Amino acid sequence: MKHDITDRNDIVLLVNTFYEKVVRDAVIGPIFTDVANVNWDHHLPVMYSFWETLLLDGRTYAGNPMKIHTALNKKHRLLEYHFDGWIRLFVETVDELFAGSKAEEAKTRGAQIAQLMLHTMRESETM
Ligand code: HEM
Repeated sequence: MKHDITDRNDIVLLVNTFYEKVVRDAVIGPIFTDVANVNWDHHLPVMYSFWETLLLDGRTYAGNPMKIHTALNKKHRLLEYHFDGWIRLFVETVDELFAGSKAEEAKTRGAQIAQLMLHTMRESETM
């Protein structure tokens, strides 16, 4: 039976599984692998901390995601269908691995931040 997201090990599994899907995805994969040329040894632990801070009150993340994506958006415009693809893969991953209130919260927060990010990207282009 699936259990809820309860500790950092769960977050690690969630994030690793999600980015395995992301790199194979035809729509958003190339943004990570070709445009940003992501250093996964650096990025994955940052993402563990990000989600731990959001879901488990870990307080281990202190970055500025909007700034990073605004810079990325200048190199490669991040459009609604990219964020839709991100949300689809994230929801699919959470549902595959977990069930419970934290799992629901992860999906809701992910989708909310994606919406906010899309909005912030367009705003940043008018400045
Ligand atoms: C189309 C959608 C997205 C794309 C293409 C994308 C791509 C990226 C890339 C390329 C990086 C930089 C990795 C690096 O070089 O270190 C990054 C960082 C990050 N992304 Fe995204 N992202 C997307 C959506 C999201 C969403 C919806 C969230 C949150 C729910 C998110 C959270 C983060 C965080 C927290 C970081 C790390 C920032 C830091 O280093 O402090 N991303 N993303």
